[in-house]
Amino acid sequence: MPDMAITQHDSTNIDGAVDALRRGEAVGLPTETVYGLAADARNREAIARVFALKGRPLDHPLIVHLPAALPLIEWAVDVPEAAYRLAEAFWPGPLTLVLRRHPAVLDAVTGGQTTIALRVPAHPVAQAVLQAFGDGLVAPSANRFGHVSPTTAAHVRDEFGDALPVVLDGGACTVGVESSIVDLSGATPRLLRPGMLAPDAIEAVLGSSLARGAHVDSPRVSGSLESHYAPRTPTHWVDSLLARSSTARRDAGTTSGERSRPAALLQSETARLGVLALGSLPDGFEGIALPAEPQTYARRMYAALRELDAGGFDAILIEAPPGTDAWLAIRDRLRRACALTATL
Ligand code: TXA
Ligand code: MG
Repeated sequence: MPDMAITQHDSTNIDGAVDALRRGEAVGLPTETVYGLAADARNREAIARVFALKGRPLDHPLIVHLPAALPLIEWAVDVPEAAYRLAEAFWPGPLTLVLRRHPAVLDAVTGGQTTIALRVPAHPVAQAVLQAFGDGLVAPSANRFGHVSPTTAAHVRDEFGDALPVVLDGGACTVGVESSIVDLSGATPRLLRPGMLAPDAIEAVLGSSLARGAHVDSPRVSGSLESHYAPRTPTHWVDSLLARSSTARRDAGTTSGERSRPAALLQSETARLGVLALGSLPDGFEGIALPAEPQTYARRMYAALRELDAGGFDAILIEAPPGTDAWLAIRDRLRRACALTATL
């Protein structure tokens, strides 16, 4: 897989995509994190189309993506100095800032909240489209609501088929996991959604620590729904696949209420298991092994979940990555991939 495949587009389809966006249509667009379903952030009907295509509840706010040079004050008010520092350090890139919204921002974008999420993506195709368009584009991940996020143009076509005629192909996403969301609208900076930017790198630029996770007073974050990013196959979390060996059986399964099912699956003679292994695929298992290195793991994670989901398995077992900050975003998404199953 090439690290940054930017060869599969040409100016013609970028122009075509911009024309479609100006007509109020939705367009599949590569970003460095995941593919987005882009639409004109100033056009109510275009935004309604995005919600309808995704099947997303109307009160779940969207991120507005901006061309690199566009001033924040067109979209936000009371912008704190910390926002400019983070923007300077991490934009263009996989960071989203939550700020107080400008009064001209459509309610459809923010779900009626007083804040707005903004991001300047780094992908050259996304930037080319944004520069040509000249204003903000909403771009939720280009998947149906609750499903696994897309990291290739083919994934986007699998999600929407003919319902989304224009999908720009910018190759496989190089980050692979959605942007880190930092809320600067309150008294303390808060990490609402972990991404592949190291929290301590964000803290170093802020010069203060980040509160973690959604707060009772924080805006709603749909990525915080338990069952987000889920494959359709029942998916379970296991500490180690070696639990299949009789000596380690009682170690299988970790979360409360989730303990018995993966252990039983590991010992089952009949269940066809697809495993997402860390480092290497142990003997006797079918599935996919991803490198025990967080950047590469993240880049390939959603594609691996999709492939396992299409593999006709009775269950997917995910081998837990380490509990360090470098794996925070990965563990967050994998936990959610298991959450739907855990509540069945
Ligand atoms: O990497 C990304 O951020 C990708 C790419 C395409 O840019 N986009 C993405 O969008 O992940 P989406 O819509 O799938 O997730 C946006 C998240 C949601 O969890 C939403 O609730 C949160 O951003 N969000 C949007 N506006 C917000 C606000 N005003 N306050 C708090 N959270 C907000
Ligand atoms: Mg999403």
